[in-house]
Amino acid sequence: MSQFIKKIFFVPAIILVAMSACNTPDPVYVLDKTPLIPLPLSVLASDEVMPLDAIGSVRTIGADERLKVITENFINFWEKHTQQKLIHVADLTHGGGAITIEIDKSFSQEQEAYKLKIASDKITVKGKTTEGVFRGLKTLEQIVFLSKLRGKTEFLSLPGGEVTDQPAYGYRGAMLDVARHFFSVADVKRYIDLLSIYKINFLHFHLSDDQGWRIEIKSWPKLTEIGGKTEVGGGEGGFYTQEDFKEIIKYAADRFITIVPEIDLPGHTNAALASYAELNCDGKATELYTGIEVGFSTLCVEKEVTYAFVEDVIREISEISPGPYFHIGGDESHVTPQKDFNRFMGRTLAIVKKYMKTPMGWYELINANISEETLLQYWAKTEDFSKLIHKKSKILISAASYNYLDMKYDSLTPLGLSWAGYLPIRKAYEWEPKTLVPDLDPEQIIGLEAPLWTETIEDFDDIAVMAFPRIIGHAEIGWTNAAQRKWEGYAERLSFHGQLLQALDVKYYSETEIDWK
Ligand code: ACM
Repeated sequence: MSQFIKKIFFVPAIILVAMSACNTPDPVYVLDKTPLIPLPLSVLASDEVMPLDAIGSVRTIGADERLKVITENFINFWEKHTQQKLIHVADLTHGGGAITIEIDKSFSQEQEAYKLKIASDKITVKGKTTEGVFRGLKTLEQIVFLSKLRGKTEFLSLPGGEVTDQPAYGYRGAMLDVARHFFSVADVKRYIDLLSIYKINFLHFHLSDDQGWRIEIKSWPKLTEIGGKTEVGGGEGGFYTQEDFKEIIKYAADRFITIVPEIDLPGHTNAALASYAELNCDGKATELYTGIEVGFSTLCVEKEVTYAFVEDVIREISEISPGPYFHIGGDESHVTPQKDFNRFMGRTLAIVKKYMKTPMGWYELINANISEETLLQYWAKTEDFSKLIHKKSKILISAASYNYLDMKYDSLTPLGLSWAGYLPIRKAYEWEPKTLVPDLDPEQIIGLEAPLWTETIEDFDDIAVMAFPRIIGHAEIGWTNAAQRKWEGYAERLSFHGQLLQALDVKYYSETEIDWK
């Protein structure tokens, strides 16, 4: 279509948009009615409409290596979903007919802040950092996707206007338990892709537990040769080589998701105890375990070899993990006497610091002598928590009754557990991290993380149906200001995201609560 014919064609589109408030639904969205999740800080609609074929290029200003990668990924998305070609040019002065992606260090104080403008013949995405423009491009991708679904066959334009945005919390996480059941690199990449749509920025890997050891440790090869051999239910298990894990880390980093490795210590260690007899106090290797009980295993805290083991594991994983945190577990160590637990954690925390990582652990670590910088992950109700916690410690909220994606939606959910109660979609959305735990200073809360424990989760479809849509709600809690979050508005916006997930061939829980479009 020539520019001239296109302009004529789009005059009626503008009129349609203008009429939409008092008439039947229009074929394109108005920007401030586009059902974006997470809801941005501010969305201003204009009366401009941008025909998709008005755009022929992407230009990047302030380019670095990562900007190149995210730009290429964005071009792939655009070409796939709009059937329009885009060429990538660096630093052209004329911005007409282009998507301009600009890093401007003076733009904002906030690392992830961005501004996205859609005009009739150009789009600009600006941020202080590459991470900021990446979040802006994800918003643009949602606008394209949702406009396309809404427009059906008439998908020819985007709504004009301006989005100004930044997150409420710096840590918006998901956790995947690859120990109870193992998931392939391809499954993990697919999960990362989906998380990135909703601006999640941390993925925590629960890499070891009683049922499996899932990461290659070169100096202790039997951990994976023996400890990686099986999983819950007696299936085949598996493990990531260090090369696999580096590949996951790079894939996540290109989507601005930081990987947090967890080795759960000193309990939840049967897979290690079955692999190496010397880690047991009686010098005898345990049997591999494929059940779902917890709290029965412990490393031998008395033995020096235990600390050599812990140091090798932390060193090897830290060497390939660029992220700031190393998670040392600490939960449900029911057969480790408290004084032994404290002694063990004292030495383990020092090892984490030796390898230049910030220690992170489940809240039970408060019973040990931890330093202020240790990040504590709150997961279950405990009377003592707020009393014991150091006022300067940072807390990550992963409350079982609000965040655990393995809790059943209701009594009819085939997968999952229910020890923390049922977790329907509304309950997973309608709560406030800053006031959930009494007596914590709101400033202590750095964000929230949604764990998916996998005792009953065996494949990608199982992951998807338990995570989606609840994790989309967690993503909005993490990004959008509390004052802007309302269930009714969220439920209406979410009702359009079922189509988005379907288009990506992602199973989601669609039974109740949402009037899916
Ligand atoms: C946990 O759910 N044991 C952290």
